Amino acid sequence: MLSFEETVRLRHSPRAFLPTPLTDAQINEVLQDAQYAPSNCNSQPWHVHIVSGETKQALTQAMLRNDEMGKASLDFSFDYADFSGDYFTRSQDQAKQYYEVLGIARDDKAQRHEAFLRNYAFFGAPHAAFLFMPSVGDNVRVAGDIGMYAQNFLLSLAARGYAGIPQTLLGFHADTVREMLGVSDNYRLLFGISFGYEDPDARANRLRMDRIPVEQSVVFHQ
Ligand SMILES: Cc1cc2nc3c(=O)[nH]c(=O)nc-3n(C[C@H](O)[C@H](O)[C@H](O)COP(=O)(O)O)c2cc1C
Repeated sequence: MLSFEETVRLRHSPRAFLPTPLTDAQINEVLQDAQYAPSNCNSQPWHVHIVSGETKQALTQAMLRNDEMGKASLDFSFDYADFSGDYFTRSQDQAKQYYEVLGIARDDKAQRHEAFLRNYAFFGAPHAAFLFMPSVGDNVRVAGDIGMYAQNFLLSLAARGYAGIPQTLLGFHADTVREMLGVSDNYRLLFGISFGYEDPDARANRLRMDRIPVEQSVVFHQ
């Protein structure tokens, strides 16, 4: 396994996977690691559904159908326009760099939409985890706990030589996903993680997003 320092620096979000599945034992090891995440009052509010094989394929078809019909059902809002200032600039920069890596021109709406739809095909990953949570208060603290869990999950994948990408877009059809996986309406879908083995030859995986200096994020007080 990689060291912690190597793991956090090597982890990135791949957007092309090999079809090779992980074994049940490999997935279980990652789930065991993720389970050690901290949570508010040790409430452990993560409810995780792992999809593979035919179920995953059926979800792709259903999400693509919804998209074609202009249908969406998000449990939590998402709008690029909500980002402002530096956050907006960074989100624009991320999209720009991604399309550049793929060789898609800025004004090529059709190709951009194709690339967007790859989200619903789990970027070719053999597995995906859908992260559900109970509704508690204004949900912010529970969502924080799910984020802790997700990061453990992603770092475990990276340390063990696998890869995963968190995807807000996998939460864009929450009603459909709930219905197909038999999940109660009491659980809300925050996001999903596609995972498996990264395709080392794919152009999409050449992207490496940089980070702002620590001084821009942290203030020290004595
Ligand atoms: C909660 C969350 C949701 C995300 N949703 C998506 C998504 O729907 N589609 C996508 O391509 N990338 C998604 N990303 C990946 C981010 O774009 C990526 O983490 C960011 O650009 C930094 O790149 P890195 O993960 O490679 O370091 C998401 C990341 C997070 C943390």
